[in-house]
Amino acid sequence: MALFYQHNINENTKLGIWRIEEPEAFYLEKVPLKKGVSHPYKRLQHLAGRFLLPTLYADFPLEEILVADTRKPFLESEQYHFSISHGGNFAAAIVSSHSRVGVDIELVSSRIVAISHKFLHFNEKVFLNAWTHLPKIHLELTTVLWSAKEAIYKWYGHGELDFKNHMQLNGPITFKADETIVCPFVFQKREPVQLTVEARIFDQLALAWVMTEG
Ligand SMILES: CC(C)(COP(=O)(O)OP(=O)(O)OC[C@H]1O[C@@H](n2cnc3c(N)ncnc32)[C@H](O)[C@@H]1OP(=O)(O)O)[C@@H](O)C(=O)NCCC(=O)NCCS
Repeated sequence: MALFYQHNINENTKLGIWRIEEPEAFYLEKVPLKKGVSHPYKRLQHLAGRFLLPTLYADFPLEEILVADTRKPFLESEQYHFSISHGGNFAAAIVSSHSRVGVDIELVSSRIVAISHKFLHFNEKVFLNAWTHLPKIHLELTTVLWSAKEAIYKWYGHGELDFKNHMQLNGPITFKADETIVCPFVFQKREPVQLTVEARIFDQLALAWVMTEG
């Protein structure tokens, strides 16, 4: 039973990663399984993601979660905004009473480089190429950019986004003293919106999150 990482971003928003080590029955004691997920491992990941929500905020009303046609889960009451991701033995969630949020985790794998042309615009590669002399960091940051775009996709929530054109890294990637990675993005489905995606690398796991007020 393990909260692998927790970050209280501000007084209204918390982020966490859960390491999945328990059998399904453990999660089912707390989580109502509304969705038919046939694959047992995917069901376990789904349950762990839901379980994390009241782990972050004890009054999170799990039974009130609805799922939109886009497959985005949400609370009609908007008591909390939230976003969930799973990868390998990990589930991540971000929960906020005030901000729109998106989160994603990805296992770092060299396979991402082979498909990076599908999700990175030429303009973004300029910023990524600043790291080509450090292959390990370059691979991690390529994974972070994929994860960042999945987090933005979930933050937006309405689907139908082109990963190359509707969201673009538009400045250099920087690092805070606590090793948080900071990625400036512009999101443009209609009017341009400046977004700051933050990220962290834990060994072989990349985590990215985005939040905006209102
Ligand atoms: C929805 C999507 C972002 C999920 O990402 P993933 O890496 O497959 O899976 P994750 O574990 O990170 O996330 C799954 C969770 O995202 C959430 N989710 C699903 N659809 C969502 C949506 N439209 N908006 C917000 N959140 C969504 C759900 O909580 C889901 O978990 P749950 O069903 O257990 O509740 C992804 O499948 C997708 O559709 N991406 C866009 C596809 C695309 O256009 N790709 C272009 C590549 S070039």
